[in-house]
Amino acid sequence: MNSTLLERYLQVRHHTATLVAPLSEEDMVVQSMPDASPVKWHLAHTTWFFETFLLAEQKPDYRPFDPAFAYLFNSYYETLGPRQPRPQRGLLTRPPLARLWAYRAHVDEHMNRLLQQPLDDDLAARVELGLAHEQQHQELLLMDLLHLFSLSPLKPAYAEHRPANYGGQRGYFVPAPGGLIELGHSGDGFAFDNEGPRHSFYLQPFEISDRLVSNGEWLAFIEAEGYRRAELWLADGWALSQAENWQAPLYWQQVGGYWQEMTLGGLQPLELDATVTHISYYEAAAYATWAEARLPTEAEWEHAAGNGLLEQIDEVAWQWTQSAYAAYPGFRPARTAIGEYNGKFMVNQMVLRGGASVTPIGHSRLSYRNFYYPAQRWMFSGLRLARDVAPPGDEFARDVITGLSTAQKRLAPKYFYDATGSELFEAICRTPEYYPTRAETELLRRIAPQLAAQIPTGAALIEFGSGASEKTRLLLDATPQLAAYLPIDISETALRKAATRLRREYPQLQIDPQVADFSQLAQLYLATGAQARVGFFPGSTLGNFSQGEAVQFLRSVRTFLGPNARFIVGVDMLKDIATLEAAYDDADGITARFNKNLLVRINRELQGDFDPDAFDHLAAWNPHENCMEMYLVSRHEQQVHAAGQRFTFARGERLHTECSHKYSVESITRLAAQAGWTLGQYWLSPAPQVGLFILKS
Ligand code: AVI
Repeated sequence: MNSTLLERYLQVRHHTATLVAPLSEEDMVVQSMPDASPVKWHLAHTTWFFETFLLAEQKPDYRPFDPAFAYLFNSYYETLGPRQPRPQRGLLTRPPLARLWAYRAHVDEHMNRLLQQPLDDDLAARVELGLAHEQQHQELLLMDLLHLFSLSPLKPAYAEHRPANYGGQRGYFVPAPGGLIELGHSGDGFAFDNEGPRHSFYLQPFEISDRLVSNGEWLAFIEAEGYRRAELWLADGWALSQAENWQAPLYWQQVGGYWQEMTLGGLQPLELDATVTHISYYEAAAYATWAEARLPTEAEWEHAAGNGLLEQIDEVAWQWTQSAYAAYPGFRPARTAIGEYNGKFMVNQMVLRGGASVTPIGHSRLSYRNFYYPAQRWMFSGLRLARDVAPPGDEFARDVITGLSTAQKRLAPKYFYDATGSELFEAICRTPEYYPTRAETELLRRIAPQLAAQIPTGAALIEFGSGASEKTRLLLDATPQLAAYLPIDISETALRKAATRLRREYPQLQIDPQVADFSQLAQLYLATGAQARVGFFPGSTLGNFSQGEAVQFLRSVRTFLGPNARFIVGVDMLKDIATLEAAYDDADGITARFNKNLLVRINRELQGDFDPDAFDHLAAWNPHENCMEMYLVSRHEQQVHAAGQRFTFARGERLHTECSHKYSVESITRLAAQAGWTLGQYWLSPAPQVGLFILKS
């Protein structure tokens, strides 16, 4: 007996009944538009699917419950004959609802008997398809119902506890290196035919936002006249938005000057932090253009999601991709009626990835390809942004424009380090309050022999962001067995200076400097032969990455160093807030100058007109993220220009410039594990505590 499949069958069928339980019979009959179907029709059609594709095919003696149902409840299967026109599904006041419940019970009874017998793989797969099909209709049913209720003047609530639509956490663009990847469903579990065959795909390097666009950000698009600027829109989208007078996402409406949103919980005040939903592809594409970005391709999405770069993958909203829905190489639909399930829709639609708050739990997968027409917006659709990797000169301008245009203004901390910024950072390290550099140097001096004992003879030491290689010398002195040292840094001058000195001081050591951005390791090739590779990343720089970036970086280092590698990482540990706040706001104001130097740099390099004195330096502990945050806070309302754009700051508005994460042994172990590293030996300094950790691949 096939108990698990039977149990799952009963569970899925029961869930449909649970979903419709709060509805009246009238709610179930009406069809609000041709795209949507009445609840009553969903109940019968999903049942017809099991009857037609399982009972009728597998049991020769099976007699259909009612021969008329083949016409009434066939959705789109040409092979199976004519059917009730889709836009007229709402006219089916007969058969009465009670007869459809009897139909469900009848088919359930026969399915129950079928599932008591041993099933071959093909048959089991067909049952899985029937279950996945019913789950798709469970979601459709809620989408259709929301559309129906949105048109009611009473704006009824389907349920008091509507599915959660919460906002994402950070909103950073996470870099992904690109290269040859595998795309599509793999493994034994169920997947729709359109998710395969799995195949190779070449990705250019790209960046993808770790979360979805929020209602607040969408509001900024509306306020920037996003719905009135033809230049942001695709021609078809512009024509449609004009014809239908689109001003906002489908379920937004203004009441007494305030935005409200129709939800499954009724009409609600718009939550600015929640994720924007119910937008068409055309709107998503226009928004992306306005935000100086684009939509991700489905290959980028699947790769990023599979590598842990994304949050809000499948629990809030389906995410538009810029990929047209088409067959993967080698795709062949089945020759029978069931081959009509996906294949014949592979034109003129766009792929959405992920899953939504109304998607049944366990229904979606990373390889799942949902698809809709670009004009449709009644589904729970949202977007995340992606962008190409900018040419080096353009990157700063682009990041400043994007970072100052979003609701929570921010700039990446890497932009601190122009020549003045690097000098100011050195000065910070000399302040009495900023302990991390001193504490780490002391710790390294003390444990260098123990660290060296972990490094195999003939190994290559590879340092990421080596700068002047000052601390490295403590390790090099204790590690005569090293064969090579490969410092990687973005600054050619710093590297050349360091290499010249080190060659003089360590004549036995092969020194191979590499000018590169260590966050783009995939583009770097190291000729170290078959030597053991040991990575070195001191200085708490890992703490300046977002969670997603840190995992991505640790993962790319693991790939880069190869098997059996060791990675020595230095991080700052959690401690009392007073010590932390003093370290990031020293009495001499050097950190404040370091922070404001970012504005000076924008003025110089991007023709900006920032007045650094019109901003205050702020360092604050964020207990949710366990990080020290730095901001520049606008002293008054002001307008500023940079990179050819105008930006407005409200009084007290913050520009986020840095996160500096602090760790516990547990949290660094967890972070490392997410990137496939395990923790080896580690050492902690006396207070104020910093740590040096050996990670093993
Ligand atoms: C470079 N990085 C580890 C420093 C930190 O502590 O996050 C940068 C810094 N920011 C303010 N002070 C120092």
